[in-house]
Amino acid sequence: MTDTIHFETEDSIAVIVIDNPPVNTGSWSVRKGLLDAVERFAQDDALTAAVIIGKDKNFISGSDLKEFGKPIALPELPQVIEAIEKCPKPIIAAISGATLGGGYELALGCDARLAAQNTLVGLPEVTLGMLPGAGGTQRLPRLIGIGPSIQVICSGKRIKAPEALKLGMVDAIAEGDLRPFAIEYAKTAVKNPLSEKSVAKDESAELDAIVKKALKAGKHRPQVQESIRLIKSTAEVDFATALAEERKVFQKLRVGEEAFALRHLFFAETNAKKVINLKEATTKAIQNVVIVGAGTMGTGIAIAALKAGFNVTVYDQSKSILVQCKSKIDAIYEKDIAAGRIKSEDRDMQLAHLELADHESAFENADLIIEAIFENLAVKQNLIKQIESISRPSTIIASNTSYIDLDEIAEVSIRPENIVGIHFFNPANIMRLVEVIHGNNTSQEVIATAFSFVQKLGKLPIICKNAFGFIGNRIYAAYRYQCELMLEEGALPHQIDQAIESFGFNMGPFAVGDLSGLDIAWNMRKANAAQRNPEARYVEIPDRLCEVQRFGRKTGAGYYNYANGIAEVDPIVTDIILKGSEAKGIERKEFSPEQIIERVLLTMANEAALLLAEGVTLRMNDIDLVMINGFGFPKWEGGPAYWGAKQETLALQQKLHELAKVTGVGFNQGDLTIFKYLTKSA
Ligand code: NAI
Repeated sequence: MTDTIHFETEDSIAVIVIDNPPVNTGSWSVRKGLLDAVERFAQDDALTAAVIIGKDKNFISGSDLKEFGKPIALPELPQVIEAIEKCPKPIIAAISGATLGGGYELALGCDARLAAQNTLVGLPEVTLGMLPGAGGTQRLPRLIGIGPSIQVICSGKRIKAPEALKLGMVDAIAEGDLRPFAIEYAKTAVKNPLSEKSVAKDESAELDAIVKKALKAGKHRPQVQESIRLIKSTAEVDFATALAEERKVFQKLRVGEEAFALRHLFFAETNAKKVINLKEATTKAIQNVVIVGAGTMGTGIAIAALKAGFNVTVYDQSKSILVQCKSKIDAIYEKDIAAGRIKSEDRDMQLAHLELADHESAFENADLIIEAIFENLAVKQNLIKQIESISRPSTIIASNTSYIDLDEIAEVSIRPENIVGIHFFNPANIMRLVEVIHGNNTSQEVIATAFSFVQKLGKLPIICKNAFGFIGNRIYAAYRYQCELMLEEGALPHQIDQAIESFGFNMGPFAVGDLSGLDIAWNMRKANAAQRNPEARYVEIPDRLCEVQRFGRKTGAGYYNYANGIAEVDPIVTDIILKGSEAKGIERKEFSPEQIIERVLLTMANEAALLLAEGVTLRMNDIDLVMINGFGFPKWEGGPAYWGAKQETLALQQKLHELAKVTGVGFNQGDLTIFKYLTKSA
């Protein structure tokens, strides 16, 4: 037996305890220990049944992903499960806490599954670029049917005990303590291996609909397609053959590019949560949150804070906007209720903590004030002065600004240590990403508090230093600029958008521009015209569109024409673009989708390298998390810094050099070797 498995007995029952802190992953020592324990149990005639149980919260939270990038040491999980199934005496899985992936597959290999109230089951392998490779695609359909198995496996969702019971994924839920309940159950249990059950063929239209939905939600990724094929095969192929096929596909996916990229993101996110050790950091207590500005962002932030249980006051200078804000909040809650995401009594409870205020006395009792007012330095500075004249000295003031220099905002503050950036993304009640911005004077305590607050909202805080556009908008701006240059050099909006969408982004930059409105950027360009380097390439095409009131979807036309309700290529735009090239004397050339994608990735990687070199962030993983969670970078590609690190550096640097030449004055060329250096030192 290994250190992580304890073999205990109670009367005639063996209790095999998994003890692999901190989260009970199914690493080698657990697999080896379990195999030994099953053998010992099988050979002991005094024992009639066995219970496998986790020592603390979790049964097995999942397989140990660190083992997945290289050959897996024996015994592998299927061997352990086979031993459980072949054991002539019943073995019961007493599952609790996270019982995911390999953990739940182990439970599927047992003769019954009993759950504690806190249990979460699921097979999330597809979200990591793989599929359940220890019988999950074969045993689950034998337990709950083909359609529900496709839904569970292809979504990778985590299912709470009551729903798992309804679905049949567990046999019973213990009212009280799991261990005595399972031991009692084991005393009369019988052998019941799922591998011996058969599955009825399903050719219903309902199944077709489930498959279609799963493929769409899973973006037709190979692991989703393979999961569906394997699950369906349970009705046609014998268990042993299908099991071997599942393992073969799993082994291939496990070491595929996509799985490596998704594991990179899994660890990036795990590490991002630990950037500040909240157990040791000093933080301020936050309960009363005031949001200033009841517009698009203020409304979303208010909902996020209400859902996390804060007392929320929304303040705006305009009473009518406050009224609109309340109806938007009500409508969003109503939608959540209709979709079963929240119960009406919980909605009522949360809304009881909402106040709308059109008077500055709202600032008096605030622990945290988040400003989401107009994007204008003077307006924001005035607000800071106004707040500080009323609020308590300890109150933290956070700005949601996208582009304004946080330190300039803080210049008027009498307590700049309390000023921080908390940059949400639209829609703020949905988007997980939040950049937490460290100004020159922001105190550690305030940063830690902002970080902890964002985590309490259930979101992903990424800390960075104050800089133009922070991480995400800075990279996005560079990328959009290169796409505009490509317009001038020979590509058309739909060619660029299609190339970028085929790479995996939900939308290309021109479709995004049309959706958010081209006038916002136009106004910014006009306001900043004096600061522009006259030597740098400036693409006038977007200005030409705005001059003829083509502001995007809201005006029925932008880069595309929306007269028929869908985006259509518009000859007027093509004409504007051709004239734009002509006016500059640029000879247009063809761009292949590969050339477009390479230029985009190179630009993003370059900007990422610059951000690291400038110390805006010290962690390349954070850049990947920002672009994936805030800007739709396809997660199976791992992010722009991950991409940069994977390339052959010299060749990449050479291509970047070419890009610098084409872009001309103003192009800031980074040193892409920084990715290799950081990867090695991580
Ligand atoms: P918005 O125009 O929808 O809302 C701004 C609100 O602030 C309005 O309701 C206005 O009445 C109120 N307001 C203006 N000055 C005020 C003052 N002195 N006191 C009280 N209320 C005042 O603007 P939006 O889009 O919500 O943006 C707000 C901030 O969030 C801006 O700094 C923007 O750059 C930033 N941001 C916007 C994003 C977006 O996608 N809209 C994304 C991330 C950040």
